[in-house]
Amino acid sequence: MRSAVNKVLTNLAILKVPTRPNRYSTMADYTSWDSLTDRTFSGRHLPATAAVNPRLPKVEDLAELYERERFVESPKSTVLFSYFAQWFTDGFLRSERAKPGSTRDLRRNESNHEIDLTNLYGLRSDVTRQLRALEGGLLKSQQINGEEYPPYLCEDGVPKPEFSLIEVLRFDEQSAEKRNRLFAMGSDTSNLQVGFVMHNVLFLREHNRIARQLAAAYPRWDDDQLFATARNVLTVLLIKVVIEDYINHITPFLFKLRLQPGSFPNPKWYRQNWMAVEFQLLYRWHSLVPPTYRIRGQDVAIWDTLFETELVTSNGLGAMFEDASAQAAGAVGLRNTPPELWHVEAASIQQGREVRLRSYNDYPSWPAFRASPPSTRSPRTPRCARACDGSTAASTTSSSSSACSPRSRARTPCCRR
Ligand code: HEM
Repeated sequence: MRSAVNKVLTNLAILKVPTRPNRYSTMADYTSWDSLTDRTFSGRHLPATAAVNPRLPKVEDLAELYERERFVESPKSTVLFSYFAQWFTDGFLRSERAKPGSTRDLRRNESNHEIDLTNLYGLRSDVTRQLRALEGGLLKSQQINGEEYPPYLCEDGVPKPEFSLIEVLRFDEQSAEKRNRLFAMGSDTSNLQVGFVMHNVLFLREHNRIARQLAAAYPRWDDDQLFATARNVLTVLLIKVVIEDYINHITPFLFKLRLQPGSFPNPKWYRQNWMAVEFQLLYRWHSLVPPTYRIRGQDVAIWDTLFETELVTSNGLGAMFEDASAQAAGAVGLRNTPPELWHVEAASIQQGREVRLRSYNDYPSWPAFRASPPSTRSPRTPRCARACDGSTAASTTSSSSSACSPRSRARTPCCRR
């Protein structure tokens, strides 16, 4: 009985939006063979607006929408949730990176569009190979203070030849001392913030634990088979955590969804993944980030948690997870982003305009969305969003606590009626 209900509810939840393939991508305003196959452009749910509404306020004038004056705590989410969300989404929401000598094209992405643990294994197989021990199916690792960690990327501030393909965002801005503490990991953001580091270390340890168990159980398997099978197991484990812990935490349903792969042999929604630009923008839940991180009783500034693996190696992984689970995250919504990330909110609004995103209010009324099963969304949200218009969609979408909560409606000009 539980399985049948789980199946029906999972289908209903997925079919709230039309199934892929999307008719449009960020490549062009019309459909073509290229636009239907080139996933370096992001998918899009609705066609672009013909032109950005010239009456929209300047991006810098929208600062008030996200500036936090007083920290509003999430009533239910902790910093661990925030760390996990940031780390998990980095695996598949990856806008094109800045390249020397060329302008960043924000219509494009550098994603595999899969839940494939890119953060741990890298975007490409040649990167994965550099991270592998090539023995026993293991990932390379080292022991620090009696715990297992990824190997260090650099020696004397320079990447080791064995890691020639590993990239780190903002590498040039790091001191030689900091570079020597960067780990060799799959994503260019894996060292960026301590939450990324914690999750990568945890999943690296789990990969190696599974590989060792497999090696003991299947002594004839070679390194490749052990590695591939450990990765398969870890991917399923991640999806289980995402559905059963993360999604159940976010959704307002009383029924707890369960991973039940055998129940969906050939569903209509079983199509190739392709991340949509709307998803990439609305997932920027920067208001989850608290003013400071509380680590072993100390308040650590956000800046001091960036590119700093020593926080994990000196305190130990268990203590870091314990502290993250004990501290409240920020409530997702307007006027609750810490100053360190205001520029990121502005960049998100700008990106929404550059890809000519439609008004938030167009989404629930678009025919394809109307045809999907009835929404459980509060009728308040679209009305509120009407005033915000178009490119603020990134800031007006929330998880548990709505951006258009009574609190934010009262305080936010865009939501005042
Ligand atoms: C200290 C914490 C954080 C820092 C320093 C940070 C920083 C950034 C920066 C610099 C960007 C790039 C903006 C751009 O160039 O367009 C970004 C994008 C993004 N952030 Fe955060 N962020 C943090 C927390 C979070 C959290 C908690 C989430 C929750 C899901 C999140 C989700 C995203 C997403 C989805 C993107 C877009 C990624 C892409 O398209 O490449 N971030 N963040």
